[in-house]
Amino acid sequence: MSGTTKKILVANSKGGCGKTTIATNLAVAFANQGLKVSLLDCDRQASCLHWAEERNAQAPKVNTVANYHSADKLAEQIAQEQDNGSDVIIMDVTGRHSDARLFEEALKASDLVLIPMLSSSLDIKAGERFVTDLMTHRVMRATPRPMGVIYNRAHNSSAHLQRFEDFLRCLSVPVISELRDSAVYVTAAETGIGVLEMRDSAAASKEYAAWRDIMLWIDRRTSGRRELPRPIQAGRKAARAKPEQARVS
Ligand SMILES: Nc1ncnc2c1ncn2[C@@H]1O[C@H](COP(=O)(O)OP(=O)(O)OP(=O)(O)O)[C@@H](O)[C@H]1O
Ligand SMILES: [Mg+2]
Repeated sequence: MSGTTKKILVANSKGGCGKTTIATNLAVAFANQGLKVSLLDCDRQASCLHWAEERNAQAPKVNTVANYHSADKLAEQIAQEQDNGSDVIIMDVTGRHSDARLFEEALKASDLVLIPMLSSSLDIKAGERFVTDLMTHRVMRATPRPMGVIYNRAHNSSAHLQRFEDFLRCLSVPVISELRDSAVYVTAAETGIGVLEMRDSAAASKEYAAWRDIMLWIDRRTSGRRELPRPIQAGRKAARAKPEQARVS
């Protein structure tokens, strides 16, 4: 990790998997710890900005910065946020091929990568591809970073999910946490808050444990004790592992 600012990339090439949901809720979790948080919106749909526009000015501040086109400007923006005293910088990035350069710059800047993942077979197939591309990315091969999967809108286990977990285990990529499919995330997105701020909601309180796991994982991975994924060669198809552990912390 460079400096004292945590730089967290939230990415997956699959649309609608929960990148913005996780980026905004994470920003809220850190802001409620009293940390200075910057949310870098690198998806031209501007969902983080729309979320921030709804956020109450009295709520713990999340400074939202946009960059939809300029890969060259990203390092400068990150340096600027660090100079402004940000404790945490969260980047919401698509990882689509059309945004490859922006993705590369965000990956370079990051200390760790969170990968939101839906559980349908098509999402899992795309997820395997994304994880493989990420692990064989030249930035990752030069300087491996911790990466972890967050199941979003988690449903019951299935054969393809089991296979995916075997695949992840083989690469030493942990599943950090599971977020329920819950209307609280939709409400939070529409009102500029995070589920951790919905203190009167029983449904939101069911999500606390999942977010505690995410925060603990980030804390461990940015506090010097880094367990890195096993590097793999570009173009090599990842072998399937024998199932041994369901979740890695
Ligand atoms: N755990 C959840 N439960 C219920 N709804 C969710 C959950 N996570 C995300 N959603 C909803 O699913 C939709 C897509 O989520 P989100 O915008 O976070 O995905 P994304 O990966 O950022 O999408 P895009 O690729 O379009 O940027 C949103 O309407 C969001 O509110
Ligand atoms: Mg988004």
